[in-house]
Amino acid sequence: MDNQLQHKTVFITGAGGVLGSTYIRRMLSAGATVVASDLPGHRADALLEAHGENNQFHFFELDVADEDGVISLFQQFKEHNLKPDVFLNNAAITGEMLVGEGGTIPDFANTSVDDWQRTLNTNLTGAFLIARQMDRDIVGQYPCKLINVASMYALNGPHHQIYEGLPFSSFSAYSATKAGIHGLTLWLAGYWAKRNATVNTIAPGAVFNGHSEVFQERVSELIMAGRMAKPDEIADVMLFLCSAQSDYMTGQMVNVDGGFSGW
Ligand SMILES: NC(=O)c1ccc[n+]([C@@H]2O[C@H](COP(=O)([O-])OP(=O)(O)OC[C@H]3O[C@@H](n4cnc5c(N)ncnc54)[C@H](O)[C@@H]3O)[C@@H](O)[C@H]2O)c1
Repeated sequence: MDNQLQHKTVFITGAGGVLGSTYIRRMLSAGATVVASDLPGHRADALLEAHGENNQFHFFELDVADEDGVISLFQQFKEHNLKPDVFLNNAAITGEMLVGEGGTIPDFANTSVDDWQRTLNTNLTGAFLIARQMDRDIVGQYPCKLINVASMYALNGPHHQIYEGLPFSSFSAYSATKAGIHGLTLWLAGYWAKRNATVNTIAPGAVFNGHSEVFQERVSELIMAGRMAKPDEIADVMLFLCSAQSDYMTGQMVNVDGGFSGW
């Protein structure tokens, strides 16, 4: 829809990943101002190369797990006269990210407290820190929306066998944080309702990002649509959740998973 996000300013964390970069391209085309962020020294270059000339695009470095960094970023919004009214808790430690960094995903018995905690710090505490700063600085000042990003592995368990023999897999902290982030949605939706702020969760399914044929075949059998998602198919629903068309929705989880959770 043309200009679906005109007059909206969207703030997004973990913006340089496969979905974040798709959301940004689509949001800018829909007329939004986009305030993007990602880890220091991480993935900014590609975003700046693609959108750096666009005066509706802004980029800040942010580790969402850094409490002081989150507080200071909201201060910078004021200094730059940026007034985000849609906030996307999109940053996450994902299996693809761990393997892409040259790491491995330890099996459950060998998962250290540090491994577990690192995922919690980003995927869940990071979302809390953004929401808390919204509460302090923005909620009640003007209408706003928070969109938390979960996963098809939030409220449904993985079929572990589809990862057998492959270099990546699902991991326990990921599922725990993705279920937890919807708990945050439910808690905040009622808490902010009278202050003109909505809170929803989007739960994307399996998004194709160069996965092997074997994985594509195995996962596709579990999906009613019979295939993985294209990033733009998740973005279609994300744009709707950012737009005025979803103003009457709050406290919901929207599954965009080709029917994975619908059997
Ligand atoms: N791609 C999928 O199949 C899929 C499916 C379901 C849910 N999701 C969710 O969608 C969101 C985006 O996924 P994606 O596929 O683009 O992942 P991705 O791994 O491509 O990108 C994740 C981004 O988060 C950033 N990040 C990691 N730790 C961070 C931190 N501490 N502070 C700030 N940024 C940090 C990374 O730098 C990266 O740019 C995630 O929340 C993910 O869990 C993705």
